[in-house]
Amino acid sequence: MESLIALVNKIQRACTALGDHGEGSSLPTLWDSLPAIAVVGGQSSGKSSVLESVVGKDFLPRGAGIVTRRPLVLQLHRIDEGKEYAEFMHLPKKKFTDFAAVRQEISDETDRETGRSSKVISTVPIHLSIFSPNVVNLTLVDLPGLTKVAVDGQPESIVQDIENMVRSFIEKPNCIILAISPANQDLATSDAIKISREVDPKGDRTFGVLTKIDLMDQGTNAVDILEGRGYKLRYPWVGVVNRSQADINKSVDMIAARRRERDYFNNSPEYRHLTDRMGSEYLGKMLSKHLEVVIKSRIPGLQSLITKTISELETELSRLGKPVAADAGGKLYMIMEICRAFDQTFKEHLDGTRSGGEKI
Ligand code: GDP
Ligand code: NA
Ligand code: MG
Repeated sequence: MESLIALVNKIQRACTALGDHGEGSSLPTLWDSLPAIAVVGGQSSGKSSVLESVVGKDFLPRGAGIVTRRPLVLQLHRIDEGKEYAEFMHLPKKKFTDFAAVRQEISDETDRETGRSSKVISTVPIHLSIFSPNVVNLTLVDLPGLTKVAVDGQPESIVQDIENMVRSFIEKPNCIILAISPANQDLATSDAIKISREVDPKGDRTFGVLTKIDLMDQGTNAVDILEGRGYKLRYPWVGVVNRSQADINKSVDMIAARRRERDYFNNSPEYRHLTDRMGSEYLGKMLSKHLEVVIKSRIPGLQSLITKTISELETELSRLGKPVAADAGGKLYMIMEICRAFDQTFKEHLDGTRSGGEKI
């Protein structure tokens, strides 16, 4: 199944790269039908930190206030070997191997669209791909944090603007929601839970992530919630311990942070029995597995959409005539090839299922 998720990733990339050429065809529908995972929650609840831990890399701007001011669509591609690197859609020819430079580019590209003002947000996504032997294939979306009041001369509309942007991502039935709630605040007031419930009342596609477990008041713990008694979601809550601001300032690296997170759960008498399903590493694997299940269940619908897309692309290519313009034609051709590969993988998968084998 790994290869199916990888193919979904490729189609998503190709759809985005195709940009305007996709208008009027089934491509936008195809894009919206492919599953992605979005992170929602209040400001500074730990959304960017959770994403970084799942990826296992330092590359996102984090901190107090509205740091994330544009949606970041992040695709993780697992490669068999070689050095990991990142690529932005807006800088197609540049390979980043220095992840501090990736963080800088996210920040610069945010400013290019919104100006330097930390008061302004934009709905235009930044697209980033990470290729690494250490990631699971996933598409993740980082979003600005929900706020309750405008501050520091922000326009009054900012509260509603952010909420609308977040909702536009998570209301899609194919969006898997990571509802990030800090353990040191009352869950009853969690912005993440409030908006997730609104778009997914049955909780079929909402996963609760409890951050900042290490920051809870002395004498309190999150066991009730993590065991499904405090605030029950359809899927069990996953507790995480991300790096604190002090850790970030001291540049505590991700490997050390993950080890410390594991030790935290192992060494706390109240959490020890839950260690197997706590932490960022577990969260990443669980999400990837869930994504496979979702894709599997969507195969018939996706397959017919892809067949339709292929025939539309064939028509478009013959309309352009040969030799096709390298730019437009080349891209169309690329996505058609990917769709064909997808179609083929579906067929193999279905064959495998019919004969009862685990073919993919
Ligand atoms: P976002 O605004 O929701 O994206 O939140 P960030 O990921 O930027 O985190 C906000 C602040 O909270 C940063 O200073 C993080 O270091 C800190 N933080 C996030 N998660 C945790 C956690 O689990 N434990 C501790 N101690 N600090 C955390
Ligand atoms: Na923040
Ligand atoms: Mg953030």
